[in-house]
Amino acid sequence: MRIGVLTAGGDAPGLNAAIRAICQLAWRDGHDVIGITNGWAGLAQEYAGFELRAEQVRDVIGRGGTLLGTARFDLDSPPGGRERVLASVEEHLDALIAIGGDGTQRISHWLAQRDAPVVGVPKTLDNDLPGTDYCIGFDSAIALVAESLDRLHTTAASHHRVIVVETMGRSTGWVAALGGLAGGADLILIPEFPLPMSDVIDHVKNRRRAGHGYSIVVVAEGVNLETLGGVEANELSREGVRGVPLASRGVGQFVATRIEEKCDVEVRTTVLGHLQRGGSPTAYDRVWATRVGAGAYHAVVRSEFGTIPVVRDNRVALAPLSEVATGQRPVPRELYDLCAEFF
Ligand code: F6P
Repeated sequence: MRIGVLTAGGDAPGLNAAIRAICQLAWRDGHDVIGITNGWAGLAQEYAGFELRAEQVRDVIGRGGTLLGTARFDLDSPPGGRERVLASVEEHLDALIAIGGDGTQRISHWLAQRDAPVVGVPKTLDNDLPGTDYCIGFDSAIALVAESLDRLHTTAASHHRVIVVETMGRSTGWVAALGGLAGGADLILIPEFPLPMSDVIDHVKNRRRAGHGYSIVVVAEGVNLETLGGVEANELSREGVRGVPLASRGVGQFVATRIEEKCDVEVRTTVLGHLQRGGSPTAYDRVWATRVGAGAYHAVVRSEFGTIPVVRDNRVALAPLSEVATGQRPVPRELYDLCAEFF
């Protein structure tokens, strides 16, 4: 069997661990693994498949990024990209494992509806794919946020400052909420539970009145600026625009400037940005990337196409791609309320 593997969308620590798991199991059983370069682009443009070899996946379990390369590639502009992907799969592969987030799995689902032999693997640092408790990269991201907050606590305390920390999280606040909880944040702002700027300012003032010498405020990049009393420039709206990073909206800086204006305190801003996506995966990401990678391989050899291994109740289960292909999984109210108990 010729099993294709691709990684699409933003990279995330743990992708190589999943690729390695697929390769090792496939080779053990006598199959070939075809690496597709740069995600969907490698099937929609000139076919960019190459046979993976043992030396290419040796020692990659702890390496960040993706050895296959990735891209944010729009298959619908100009139209016809999906059809070219379908044709490439039919011509060159017996099965395809697509590792990626919501955009990737929407394409996987579209292909599966046309009887292409496709299996997905859940990956997004934002951790918001519906139907799964885990997505590759999330644990490494929140570990970075927590470590960053540890460092920022000491400098904020020394200078009696407020530090506003902006995290990734396009539509949901998983990285901000759990990274902030792990790092002892004093306030966390996420898209799911918007707070007006007046509440943020009151909270900072109350903390100072209560004798707290400093505060760490964590803000997800996808928080709605209009809710905070700001103006959303059309071209940098919350939905994001192709080629324009969401961090360009400057939500963290917006919050910092308003706090400084109203709270008579020095404020600094730290945008964690792509530090959250780079570097080695945590042990947790390595283990679960291996488990969902293995789950995808087993689905392929059993011809269970149109599916994706997901994590539920600490186990890998096989779900239909349709379950993950629409919408986002928001941070639940009870989890945010728990975070808020420590503000
Ligand atoms: O979708 C995952 C993500 O990491 C978001 O949190 C972030 O907004 C985006 O990717 C950044 O993408 P890029 O690297 O293309 O700027």
